[in-house]
Amino acid sequence: SSSSQASSNGFLQCLSDSRIPVLTQNSCSFKRQLEAYIRNPKFMANTNVKPLYIVMPTNTSHVQGTVRCGRQCNMSIRVRSGGHDYEGLSYRSVHAKDFVVLDLSQLHKVSVDSHTSTAWVESGATLGELYYKVWKASDVLGFPAGLCPTVGVGGHFSGGGFGMLMRKYGLAIDNVIDVELVDAKGRLLNKTSMGSDVFWAIRGGGGESFGIVLKWQVKLVPVPRTVTVFNVSVSTRQGAVDVVTKWQQVAPTLRDDLFIRVLVQNQRADFQSLFLGTCDVLLPVMSDHFPELKFNRSDCKEMTWIQSVPYIYLGNNSTVEDLLNRTSSAFAHNNGFKAKSDFVRQAIPRDVWASIFTKLAQPEAHYGLMILDPYGGKISAVPESATPFPHRAGVLYNIQYINYWNMASGNGTVQTKWIRDMYTFMAPYVSSNPREAYFNYRDLDLGDSFEVWGPKYFKRNYPRLVMAKGMIDYDDYFHNEQSIPSPKHGY
Ligand code: FDA
Repeated sequence: SSSSQASSNGFLQCLSDSRIPVLTQNSCSFKRQLEAYIRNPKFMANTNVKPLYIVMPTNTSHVQGTVRCGRQCNMSIRVRSGGHDYEGLSYRSVHAKDFVVLDLSQLHKVSVDSHTSTAWVESGATLGELYYKVWKASDVLGFPAGLCPTVGVGGHFSGGGFGMLMRKYGLAIDNVIDVELVDAKGRLLNKTSMGSDVFWAIRGGGGESFGIVLKWQVKLVPVPRTVTVFNVSVSTRQGAVDVVTKWQQVAPTLRDDLFIRVLVQNQRADFQSLFLGTCDVLLPVMSDHFPELKFNRSDCKEMTWIQSVPYIYLGNNSTVEDLLNRTSSAFAHNNGFKAKSDFVRQAIPRDVWASIFTKLAQPEAHYGLMILDPYGGKISAVPESATPFPHRAGVLYNIQYINYWNMASGNGTVQTKWIRDMYTFMAPYVSSNPREAYFNYRDLDLGDSFEVWGPKYFKRNYPRLVMAKGMIDYDDYFHNEQSIPSPKHGY
């Protein structure tokens, strides 16, 4: 329309007056830049609404200026850090709407202070860069966040952030001590100037809703010089159904420096683990608590914590330097995917596990995968209202369902249907009223009605998120399909 034409001309003029570089759809690098951080290739198809512009700030004032121009000229913003959003909301809009992508990938500095065991990390850094820089500064410090090294700090921290250290040290957001945020007026705020409700909200209340977090100050955590990694695979013939059933009781009650997750796929359960100590210490713990796994010394791989990060996620041929590689792993590169999440508060009976394995064996399951991440320890000890992330005490484990497909050979209809059917099947065995879901495994199947997805992602914390939204962005400038609504809409 002519009014949207006028606002986009005005927006470009405003950026140019503020000397902020911008890529338009005609720029030759527009497509490359847009696609560089699309981590779910199903959203590369041109049926999805694309941004009109991409701004790639190289300093704070570019971010502030883009927000001011956007506000003035009625151009909305999608902020993107690492681009891993499961529904692509950092670079696409489901409903036709003019918008600019503010791509933070060039703001990726990490400054570590090993004396105080703290670091400032910019949102455009990847988790791999954060881990690597921390290790360069001190080989006995680490940080508890996600497994995939290309995940962006900005989105990941906004929604919680969990990984192999969460039983010992909690989520990424449990270890954030300060931030710098650009609000909808273009102001630069920190923990004190934004006020305690907003500082609470941005640590787990989800990206996009409250403003643009430029950087985060985090408390680093001690890691020992030697950790032990193992991956023990049990097939259904070898008794996977029984071992997984037992795992549900064992894994959440083990000492908190031992994390054993399960990948259930095909007719196998892979028990993938990180222990913050040596094999000698681990062996008796395993035989006392989990003899069913038949764990022995040859399963142990001792290494440093930083080596364990690429080893676990990228495989045994990877190196520590691979953590700096920003191009995505093969998985996200060629495969479109659909994911969903659940939280389990009561162990699932053995016969149900038998049915789950049967469902995973059906041809229409394709690459259907379930990842079980155990709770207990620190993640469960933090009170539900301490951060917006409410899935705490009482949870035994998280389930992530994933199905994926090669983009060259299909559009994922069958795989997406399979995962939705599986989710329906699982309803009686997982949390209910609300059926909880992890914000960082964003799922638009939960709908765009806040009354529905709000309690699922945030349980009883969602009214306080609305209040915080009203304090920092009453006009609802920062908005997407699942952003926290402003009280101005009557919430
Ligand atoms: P992206 O840039 O797409 O942002 C996600 C959302 O946050 C968007 O709404 C965006 O607008 C907003 N946002 C981004 N930067 C912001 C900023 N600076 N300020 C405000 N809002 C901002 N999770 C987990 O907990 N543990 C794990 O191990 C993994 N592993 C994993 C592997 C793979 C392959 C994928 C694709 C995803 C994961 N995740 C995960 C999920 C991941 O935590 C989640 O997708 C994060 O939101 C990704 O953050 P990015 O910055 O990469 O995404």
